Amino acid sequence: MVSVVERLKAAGAYGRGQKASLSRAVGEGSGVRAGGGRAAGDIGAAGAGPLPQPLSRERERGVNAAAGDDSKVLTGARIGIHQVSHWFGHGNERLQVLDHVDLSVAPGEFVALLGPSGCGKSTLLRLVAGLDQPTSGEILQDGTPITEPDPSRIVVFQDPTLYPWRRVWNNVALGLQAQGILAQQRHRVDDALRRVGLESFARAFPHQLSGGMAQRVALARALVNDPRLLVLDEPLGKLDSLTRLAMQSDLVELWQRSRFSALLVTHDVEEALFLAQRVIVFSQRPARIAAELRVDLPYPRHRGDPRLTELRHEALRHLGLDASW
Ligand SMILES: Nc1ncnc2c1ncn2[C@@H]1O[C@H](COP(=O)(O)OP(=O)(O)O)[C@@H](O)[C@H]1O
Ligand SMILES: [Mg+2]
Repeated sequence: MVSVVERLKAAGAYGRGQKASLSRAVGEGSGVRAGGGRAAGDIGAAGAGPLPQPLSRERERGVNAAAGDDSKVLTGARIGIHQVSHWFGHGNERLQVLDHVDLSVAPGEFVALLGPSGCGKSTLLRLVAGLDQPTSGEILQDGTPITEPDPSRIVVFQDPTLYPWRRVWNNVALGLQAQGILAQQRHRVDDALRRVGLESFARAFPHQLSGGMAQRVALARALVNDPRLLVLDEPLGKLDSLTRLAMQSDLVELWQRSRFSALLVTHDVEEALFLAQRVIVFSQRPARIAAELRVDLPYPRHRGDPRLTELRHEALRHLGLDASW
């Protein structure tokens, strides 16, 4: 299989340069600060991501046929998380999970969330996806409160959750099929598979795929909806380390090319620093923002970059780990 990186290189698809600045601790700007909190609430158990719905725009590869439509082509969503606190349960059973989280994601920005296991990262992602409502505070997409799932925000989980009886192509096609637009939009499925380097596996069944390939299919199933925000909850967490490294590079390429905003949860410091423009470090539960690191390096990044080592030490220090190794 030719990786998506190679394909994109061949297509000359390398993208934007990235801005630079210094990393810094909490409260020194860019919409991030920490605080204490209160409120009450309850939400349901974790579920599937938002159901795909009809799209308002098309782009890339000549899909955008109407003249002048480019003026309407949107980049990523702007996300504003304002003083969000969240509790689970009732009465004595109440558990505070998020504590006055204040964070913004600029259109097209790639932000990674790092933090101890169980601190509240996935909870925050579910709130951003609109799968649950925060107990207090608000979350906005382009200035509008997020109150329910929307096809402009697609979640990719650790487990690809493909339908085993459907071929790869049909798994990716699900969203368009659910909207009743598959017949006219079949090219979008082909395009999404091409974007993850799996077009030659379109007719394979999930059991014929490796873990990495299955996760690529899950990515294609997200990309076919042309999301403006890709919400990634440890999407590479179950992959072996070599596949994981390759997929990290692929994710960077996909993001650079597709221009969605990305919000990634990972427990892997190197992964966060390799992928994101900003890394937000959370405290133990209830999650507060402990630090924000700006990764002032262009893409594609080099894993041996001494600046990444510096930032890694800084991130580990904020996570309360001895960063001497
Ligand atoms: N639906 C829920 N009901 C009650 N408690 C929950 C629910 N979802 C998560 N929790 C609890 O909230 C805390 C944070 O969970 P989570 O956001 O999944 O953490 P992380 O993703 O950072 O590992 C954990 O203690 C978890 O047990
Ligand atoms: Mg989690």
